Amino acid sequence: MAHNELHETARALVAEGKGILAADESTGTIKKRFDSIGIENNEENRRAYRDLLFTTPGVEEFISGVILFDETIRQSGHDGTPFPQLLESKGIIPGIKVDQGAKPLALAEGETVTEGLDGLRARLEEYRTLGARFAKWRATYSITDTLPSDYCIWTNAHALARYAALCQEAGIVPIVEPEVLQDGTHTIQRSEHVTSRVLDALYTELFDQRVDLEGTLLKPNMVLSGYEASKRAGVDEVAEQSLHAYYKHVPAAVPGIVFLSGGQSDEDATAHLNAMNARGPHPWQLSFSYGRALQAPAIKAWDGKPENVEAGQRAYYHRAKMNSAARTGLWAPEMEREAVAAV
Ligand code: 13P
Repeated sequence: MAHNELHETARALVAEGKGILAADESTGTIKKRFDSIGIENNEENRRAYRDLLFTTPGVEEFISGVILFDETIRQSGHDGTPFPQLLESKGIIPGIKVDQGAKPLALAEGETVTEGLDGLRARLEEYRTLGARFAKWRATYSITDTLPSDYCIWTNAHALARYAALCQEAGIVPIVEPEVLQDGTHTIQRSEHVTSRVLDALYTELFDQRVDLEGTLLKPNMVLSGYEASKRAGVDEVAEQSLHAYYKHVPAAVPGIVFLSGGQSDEDATAHLNAMNARGPHPWQLSFSYGRALQAPAIKAWDGKPENVEAGQRAYYHRAKMNSAARTGLWAPEMEREAVAAV
């Protein structure tokens, strides 16, 4: 298997001005999004919504890849084209979420380990046949005064590395996603400390398990004050503390860091990415792999109604364009107000 192909795919996913759409919500998670607009969580509604996103005219200027869910990679657009082929025809790389969720970690109250390693080799083989060129595995860690434990950090790091090695064996670029959840009242300094420990363990395991870092991408949390903290850090401090953690613990061989949005507002996620890029150049590309921060306005504008498909597409196109601007460090809040003719 040519390692160069993995390197090329990883670099293409963080090509200039482009980032990733995470549209891999599990059936349970998409239900929460559909509940917010009062539509039924059935297979056709899930298909129609993903069709809206994937057929948005011109969005390929800003979107390099899309992460799909197991059901979605097997579905087709309204013209019958399977979603992976539809994306490829626009120059967008199809990807797949392969973890099976964060489950309670044994003997570790309040902590989780991500499952999905059993049978993964065979599943990766099938996903590759279906068109997937990259994958995603998400581990989660909660911050309290005493958590996360070393046990949780190392167990998840080990699983992330096992997943990454299996992906590379199958010719699939692994996105490794260690998400330190930012719920709680913690300070930004505590978030920086925990994020650093998590990244340090992750890169130790990736090295020990022989993963070729140039054929991977990192999808981390940004370093934030807890969402419930009384005094929350502003954009500049978020950029500085986040970069501090990555500079210490993410090897320069990694081609790109593609952030998750993790419950930040759309505009905060864009502003933080922009502020980090404004402090560049950096050893890695700094880009986005947002779920909610790319989709929230689109799902609201769509409202589950066929007559609103274009409005939903305009909203998604606008967020993709704003985050593309944030990749250069030249995004400004005024750009949010400018009308964007998407279609
Ligand atoms: P959010 O951007 O909504 O956090 O989702 C990204 C993702 O893929 C989480 O696994």
